[in-house]
Amino acid sequence: MHDRATDPIGAATSVTAATIEIMILLSIEVGIAQVRLPVEEKRSARLSSHSRASPRDGYDTFTPCAHPFRWQFLQAICNKGDYNSLLNHQKTVMKDDNLQSIAKKLVAPGKGILAADESSGTIEKRLKSISVPSTEENRRAYREILFTTKDAGEFISGVILFDETIRQKTRDGRTFVKALEEQRIIPGIKVDKGAKAMANFPGEKITEGLDGLRERIAEYRQLGARFAKWRAVITIGDNIPTRTCIDANAEALARYAALCQGGDLVPIVEPEVLMDGTHTIERHFQVTQETLESVFHALYEHRVSLEGMLLKPNMVLSGKDCPQQASVQEVAEATVRCMKRVVPAAVPGLVFLSGGQTDQQATEHLNAMNQLPDLPWQLSFSYGRALQAPVLKAWKGNQANVAKAQQAFHHRAWCNSKARFGKYTEDMETAKAAA
Ligand code: 13P
Repeated sequence: MHDRATDPIGAATSVTAATIEIMILLSIEVGIAQVRLPVEEKRSARLSSHSRASPRDGYDTFTPCAHPFRWQFLQAICNKGDYNSLLNHQKTVMKDDNLQSIAKKLVAPGKGILAADESSGTIEKRLKSISVPSTEENRRAYREILFTTKDAGEFISGVILFDETIRQKTRDGRTFVKALEEQRIIPGIKVDKGAKAMANFPGEKITEGLDGLRERIAEYRQLGARFAKWRAVITIGDNIPTRTCIDANAEALARYAALCQGGDLVPIVEPEVLMDGTHTIERHFQVTQETLESVFHALYEHRVSLEGMLLKPNMVLSGKDCPQQASVQEVAEATVRCMKRVVPAAVPGLVFLSGGQTDQQATEHLNAMNQLPDLPWQLSFSYGRALQAPVLKAWKGNQANVAKAQQAFHHRAWCNSKARFGKYTEDMETAKAAA
């Protein structure tokens, strides 16, 4: 022991040693606590579904081999006194906690996501369907109807915005981000640059937008986004999809997801197998399974934290032009069976896209899925068309119809909220929305 009064250097050394000792003990304590939690979570998850851990978790046993990051951190402190390791470790833990908490809020029971992130071309098509020209003001006015619908926050957890929309304001001068936050709705952002024709692969698409993504994520985070979306498109047809197209899209999705988590945004990973075509539900099942297998392999390879992301899959359906259309029950069972085969239980929630189903079909399918037993994840919605179709129809670009349009949106969101509990019934279509 040093006499601190007579030997200040020795005293400083022993204080440093004591601090290091406390840090090591603390980190071991934290390590043990983190070992227990995931083990418990995984134990219950395994009861219902196969789970594959990502390299960022996996604290089943506390050994240097299984925990290279933690072990390196301890070594750094012991050998080099590198206190920055402690800080970086803390920051990573805090970021992961934050991502997980946002992901969970987005799939809170009874709530789902509104996809209002139509690109310029798509929103033009939507507005054209009601004979409204796609001017910036008309796009803004239409989105304001959705975002300011009274009590929408009871059924809507998050809204996905487009680059233009995240910068726009309500008529009374609040940013859309603020207006949503006031409704306790989490703002999100589409960050891909669209699905483009894939070179050398006729009829197939690859989603672009990785260049400069890190910087765009930082800007969107600054503007208030807390989660993001990237959509990949897989088409079923003669001799397609190819393995090359599926894997290239999966790789892009994983790189996007990793960048989002690094930039503190929850990634919504959307590999959409289109329902367009004459294919059977069995073919849609097979392609969806192959696509999701490739996506989860890529996510694993890119060390994406499964707990800090959401999956936005298509439902497993008969092709739009297939003569044999599967029943609601068949769709629900096929979709959940497919998801259980490939989606790890560590993913907190699946937020389905509607993909061209009618609004009522999308609600019925979600409802039937939520009535099935042993679901390892929250099953929710992230609908674009299936939430907005009745709103556009009621609005028609006329200010006098705004109240009617908001009522239509509130009603559709309410029906889907009921479907989240498996409590939707057809007579709700004509009933007034009630909380
Ligand atoms: P739909 O529900 O209209 O398919 O839109 C969801 C979406 O966000 C597509 O990327």
